[in-house]
Amino acid sequence: MQTMLSGIKPTGRLTLGNYIGAIRQFVEYQDEYEMYIFIANLHAITVAQDPKELKQNTKDLIALYLASGLDPEKVTLFLQSDVHQHAELGWILTCHSYMGELQRMTQYKDKTAKGETGITAGLFTYPCLMAADILMYDADYVPVGVDQKQHVELTRDIAERFNNRYGETFRIPQPLTPKIGAKIYSLQNPTKKMSKSEENPKGTIDLLDDPGVARKKIMSAVTDSLSTIQYDPDTQPGVSNLLMIHSSLSGESLESLVSRFQGKGYGDLKKETGGIVFDFLSDLQSRYRDIIASGKIDEILREGNEKASRIAERKLRKVKKKLGFQILK
Ligand code: TYM
Repeated sequence: MQTMLSGIKPTGRLTLGNYIGAIRQFVEYQDEYEMYIFIANLHAITVAQDPKELKQNTKDLIALYLASGLDPEKVTLFLQSDVHQHAELGWILTCHSYMGELQRMTQYKDKTAKGETGITAGLFTYPCLMAADILMYDADYVPVGVDQKQHVELTRDIAERFNNRYGETFRIPQPLTPKIGAKIYSLQNPTKKMSKSEENPKGTIDLLDDPGVARKKIMSAVTDSLSTIQYDPDTQPGVSNLLMIHSSLSGESLESLVSRFQGKGYGDLKKETGGIVFDFLSDLQSRYRDIIASGKIDEILREGNEKASRIAERKLRKVKKKLGFQILK
């Protein structure tokens, strides 16, 4: 069985973009792959976090993973900071990465281009930690949204470099992005990614938004003045985004949607998409509440942490041996 791994940062509340671009794939593939899914809290602190909020967001993320359909019998679910080997391998890989390649990473580049101050050193080096997350478990595939693809490409480069220098150590992973929904856009600015950190709450649907509020956000989504419903992200980004959201959640193909909405107005598309989002969130949140009430999260996490730690320790030992760290017999 091939291995798949992915993680999400517990910063802010999860969005529909996180679900469509990432979580949906985790659930879809859990039967076919040895699956590792984690909460990337070491990544979260690359920007300042309020400890109380971080704790709440972490619990919510675990509950939402489960509510989305991840089955702890099939998936190893763990908390990154509980598997201390990640930070250790992260450091080792930081020493095998170059300033130039990290400077080319979009997130860092964007923040520096905007002239942001207070960028932490952790934010600069975090792709090395992400490489450690992936290489630790010999992942064949990494299901992510488009924005994370670049980091998986860098991981491949680091792994190849390491293997060339020390002999076969890491499996070379491949990013896996969904055909539809690899990038869901802001409802208010449909050329920008829907993001946890977006300032305008009307642009983002949180998975824990009141379903009625979410429906309203869809109804007030920015479209265009062309008055025709077709899938063309370049000329009609807003309409295409709604079609993507609809298709991802309903399973109906884009072609079928476009043909069904011929001659209809944007209001019709919004109404139907809003209804689908409403139903989706209502179901998800009802499962989320059951999971929180069940009190099962601790046990699931404890088991996942133990399994991940065992595998991580074995891998780290191998890496240390290759590096010439192992002295004691
Ligand atoms: P994060 O927490 O920013 O996002 C989690 C996942 O959600 C996807 N995503 C989206 N997909 C489609 N449309 C959107 N609008 C959208 N917004 C977010 C992201 O592509 C991602 O797949 N560095 C990672 C977390 C991480 C990780 C890893 C992932 C740490 N280590 C190892 C994979 C493997 C991050 O910040 O994702």
